[in-house]
Amino acid sequence: MDGKKIEGSDALSRRGFLKSAGVAAAATTLIHETRKSLESTIPSDATVMRGESELKFKLNGKEVTAKVAPSLTLLELLREKMDLTGTKQVCDRGACGACTVHLDGRTVNSCLLLAVDASGRNVTTVEGLAQGEQLHPVQQGFVEEDAMQCGFCTPGMVMSCAALLAKNPKPTRADCAEGISGNICRCGTYLNIFRAMDRASALMKAGK
Ligand code: FES
Ligand code: FES
Repeated sequence: MDGKKIEGSDALSRRGFLKSAGVAAAATTLIHETRKSLESTIPSDATVMRGESELKFKLNGKEVTAKVAPSLTLLELLREKMDLTGTKQVCDRGACGACTVHLDGRTVNSCLLLAVDASGRNVTTVEGLAQGEQLHPVQQGFVEEDAMQCGFCTPGMVMSCAALLAKNPKPTRADCAEGISGNICRCGTYLNIFRAMDRASALMKAGK
């Protein structure tokens, strides 16, 4: 030490130190109190998950298990742990529909769903639509009507179309537009997609 005295704005006075220590202590207390009050809003019968847990669900007709962190999305689980990369990650915020899969037969954006929410449920991805070599009528319709360009929206589109046709085998053009309203095609192949849905509807009627 050279005994130099620190002066001016750099000087840490005893008073300043006590003031800032007091602010820090108050902040710590506030965080503690906020946490306590947030925890008090958790229902007593709620399951609080920490670390990884084992998840069991049906994926494309087969029972599967996976170790998942509470924050893992269904999309991340499918692509990164199950190696099913047909489901696309595009916006990752529920805006584009590229990640659409079926959960108990209904369409969901898998980027918005936590993997743990699939527990005990049936998840179908685009890989689960075809029966062996036999394409699903919607997939066949997309091929025949050339309903894709870059293909990024295609798996999600196909899943939305398949869900619509399962509910309504003979949809009007308005029904089709409604059915894919959550899916965005940046290449603008909507007309071909509508034709593909008409074709799929005809194939289904013919029992193909
Ligand atoms: S990636 Fe999920 S909605 Fe776009
Ligand atoms: S085919 Fe390119 S986004 Fe739809």
